[in-house]
Amino acid sequence: MNKLKHVAIIMDGNGRWARAKGYPRTQGHLVGTDNVRNIAIAANDEGIEVLTVFAFSTENWKRSKDEIDYLMKLPFVFFDKFMKELMERNIKITMIGEMEDIPKDTAKIFNKAMEQTSKNTGMILNFAMNYGSRFEIVRAFNKFLDEYKNDNSLELTEDNFNNYLYTKDFPEVDLMIRTSGEQRISNFLLWQLAYSELIFVQEAWPEFTPESFKKCLDEFKKRDRRFGGVK
Ligand code: FPP
Repeated sequence: MNKLKHVAIIMDGNGRWARAKGYPRTQGHLVGTDNVRNIAIAANDEGIEVLTVFAFSTENWKRSKDEIDYLMKLPFVFFDKFMKELMERNIKITMIGEMEDIPKDTAKIFNKAMEQTSKNTGMILNFAMNYGSRFEIVRAFNKFLDEYKNDNSLELTEDNFNNYLYTKDFPEVDLMIRTSGEQRISNFLLWQLAYSELIFVQEAWPEFTPESFKKCLDEFKKRDRRFGGVK
């Protein structure tokens, strides 16, 4: 059976889910925030080591100011509501993305959550926040160049490139799930998904249940992973 250490999720469809119910888009994001808790708990119960969730992309700055402001407030809602539970379940919070460019108070709340959970040894709930994969790759190359300036014997290889990515401390992404029927990667973990299994589900993020999540894990376990080789 396939081992499952790292699951990544594109939490898509909040806006469409809300519109279909006659709610403002923000209601979809709010219910979606509660669902991060539900799926994180399910993932933790399944013994997954890292759950990476795409919470805000570098492209999301194109949205209206009101929606961006709302999205940037969600970490307050999330940690206010669920920090106690995250601690009880030994879940550790981490972040990938450009922290410098998000509002100071949002960055502060993430820093506080990371600090508070830093000694937890259970699942890592990793938020991709102001994250864009092309930027991450260019940033990685520039980080390498900085080191190279001091030591031009250094070589950039497929193996060591990983050390320059935000995700350097995490295991390979085994499975990527995207909700709401869209079948795209949308600038999410382009390097890291090279050999991941991909599952696209129809449910929008706010209605994606722990049962649906477990079905994805079951499907993953049945997949024939060859990594380009032959069995
Ligand atoms: C995509 O749906 C979703 C987002 C851009 C935001 C996702 C964020 C959350 C679910 C909450 C994150 C929680 C924390 C604590 C940061 P969409 O708005 O693009 O939906 P649409 O495609 O139907 O319009």
